[in-house]
Amino acid sequence: MNYDNTRVAEVSELLHKRFAELDTKADILKSVELKALFDELKTLPNEQKPQFGKELNLLRGELQKMVEEAGDTAEALPPIDVTAPMDVNAPIPELLPSENGSVHPLMREKEIILDIFYRMGFTASESRELDDEWHMFTSLNFPEGHPARDEYDTFVTEQADKNGNKLVAPAHTSTMQNRVLQKYKGNLENGEPIACVIPDRVFRNEDLDARHEHTFYQIEGVYVGQGVHAGMLIATLKSFLQEYFGKDLEVRTQPFYFPFTEPSFEFALSCPFCDKKGCSICSQTGWIELLGCGMIHPNVLKAAGIDPETYTGFAWGCGLDRLVMMKYNIEDVRHFHSANLNFLRQF
Ligand code: DAH
Repeated sequence: MNYDNTRVAEVSELLHKRFAELDTKADILKSVELKALFDELKTLPNEQKPQFGKELNLLRGELQKMVEEAGDTAEALPPIDVTAPMDVNAPIPELLPSENGSVHPLMREKEIILDIFYRMGFTASESRELDDEWHMFTSLNFPEGHPARDEYDTFVTEQADKNGNKLVAPAHTSTMQNRVLQKYKGNLENGEPIACVIPDRVFRNEDLDARHEHTFYQIEGVYVGQGVHAGMLIATLKSFLQEYFGKDLEVRTQPFYFPFTEPSFEFALSCPFCDKKGCSICSQTGWIELLGCGMIHPNVLKAAGIDPETYTGFAWGCGLDRLVMMKYNIEDVRHFHSANLNFLRQF
């Protein structure tokens, strides 16, 4: 279409060219140039307004038609009339019956596990999906540049904290230890312990296979008070596991290394499925290495403003997916995030 007004003609030519390149054709109606013409109209002397206004409306009409013809009608449709009468007899859309849905097995087991710890006097805290290097490593007594940091295969973001350290996706729930210690340290002055579990998601840049996922769950435990010792740690974990598996178990510790505990242990339980006779779940050994734990390192307590001369504590970190896999004999950790209904419907 030809326009007599040079401004309208100019914009028309420009928008026709742009239209061809747009993915969402309706965006042409929101062009700043078109809006500018409407603004211009308002500033014109009265005698020029009719001619300019007419051409401008023609241009908008032309663009609208082009949008409609391109099949991109979202913008061109009339607005919904919210005052229109409603058909009360319209059939209700068919919804899936509620028994078709279920709680995800990991979340269901998490609730069962939390319930056991609540009954033991623990409280629970959530972790986070983005954290800084200080909470993830430094507050946990990992020296700057220590190779133990590399073992955590941590995902790093582009964004940095105020010290210029890149933010990370937490690779263990221990990243919450300092926050939990700070939050509940008032308990200690009142003669009460700090007793908290943190069940949440962690992320690692793993090579994926039947036993490794990039996203999985851990349940962290932190207990601090006066006179707390390793016997209490072992008794707490043993009681929890016996309750979870519903039977008496034997437990075993071996020395290990974590920067944030001293001493540190690797904790194993007698296989709840074969009673130490040897089966596929325990790889015929009768024992299952389950988690890492230990007495909280004095530096970790100090970093949270707790005097390690007066208070001691224990901590552990256990893979939730592992526990659930064992309990239900699930052979591949990747099932959990597969959204495969054949898997999920078994729970
Ligand atoms: N954060 C450790 C990991 O992911 C597990 C762990 C070990 C947690 C010992 C603890 C602990 O709290 O005391 O490998």
